Amino acid sequence: MIDRRRFLQSSALCTLAPTVGYAACEDGVSRFDANSTAEEVTLGLDLTGKTALVTGINSGIGYETMRVLALRGAHVLGTARTYEKGRIACDSVVGETTPLVLELSDFNSIVTCSDQIQAMGMEIDILICNAGAIFADLWQVNGVEAHFVINHLGHFVLVNRLLNRVIAAPQGRIVIVGSQAHQSAPEAGIQFSDLSGASWFGRQVAYGHSKLANGLHSLELSRRLKDTHTTSNVVHPGIVRTNIARDLPGWQQAAFQIFGYLFLKSLEEGAATTCYVATNPDVEKISGCYFADSNPATPHENMQDVPMGVKLWEVSERLTEGYLV
Ligand SMILES: NC(=O)c1ccc[n+]([C@@H]2O[C@H](COP(=O)([O-])OP(=O)(O)OC[C@H]3O[C@@H](n4cnc5c(N)ncnc54)[C@H](OP(=O)(O)O)[C@@H]3O)[C@@H](O)[C@H]2O)c1
Repeated sequence: MIDRRRFLQSSALCTLAPTVGYAACEDGVSRFDANSTAEEVTLGLDLTGKTALVTGINSGIGYETMRVLALRGAHVLGTARTYEKGRIACDSVVGETTPLVLELSDFNSIVTCSDQIQAMGMEIDILICNAGAIFADLWQVNGVEAHFVINHLGHFVLVNRLLNRVIAAPQGRIVIVGSQAHQSAPEAGIQFSDLSGASWFGRQVAYGHSKLANGLHSLELSRRLKDTHTTSNVVHPGIVRTNIARDLPGWQQAAFQIFGYLFLKSLEEGAATTCYVATNPDVEKISGCYFADSNPATPHENMQDVPMGVKLWEVSERLTEGYLV
């Protein structure tokens, strides 16, 4: 039995390598591509007996991810911001699903949700941090820029509080839904000296900043999990027709929908990379990697920056103190 707290503390000291070897990720190369769907990448897999937790299942990529994992036999614990939204989404798919309430901007909600899952007592084979948002304007939660809180810190707390259940699974997988938009983060990377966003906010920059944090979270998690059977990877789903633009001005939403109809990935295609990394036997030993179009990809150098990931971990711990186990 692993003493998780001690193991996490001791591995926090292993911070010497400046970058990770992305060559190892090449073992995750598949025959799938940008046009593959979530059903195609999971065809023939039997996930009966497995439990998957997916955040943000009432809409977009999270909904399709839940639908396909449940179709393949997994019991999906699906989170939404209200019970009603979660129930409606869960009731609309075939298979075993359980709705849970999770509001990522409210750490008390994350504690309640994770306590409910702990009380269920099962191992978590797949933990997918999918929920996310884009905001047109700067706003903060407890003084911290909202994209960073919702897209990164909320999931940081959730993973922390459920990690024992993922490590307990025979081969637990954590998949964090990041984005190619991490390339839009400030050039220097995570803005440790001003996490309020006041001095650097721009919609794309702030969203990209939170997505860079997603990637660095996954990278550091993979380093801390290296002596376990548990993996952590970050994925870019592609540019997908979803409700992600809902908080943008009307004309930008309309442009996204029209452009999306013509050029963007469908939901079925958009959930493929997440489902591939979460289930495919070929990637069971692959960790600390970045995937796009169901294949390994090379992220911006900031997302491979181990010291930045270590620092982000430490700062995230400080910002979420009192909510971690
Ligand atoms: N669509 C793309 O082109 C694209 C590209 C790259 C990456 N991604 C990433 O893909 C993931 C899924 O996004 P999507 O495109 O499927 O968008 P979506 O349709 O808007 O779905 C987002 C999900 O996240 C939930 N969510 C938003 N804010 C939340 C909060 N504060 N607490 C808890 N849940 C919250 C939403 O709940 P509500 O419905 O209640 O708001 C919804 O269930 C995100 O992480 C996004 O950054 C998307």
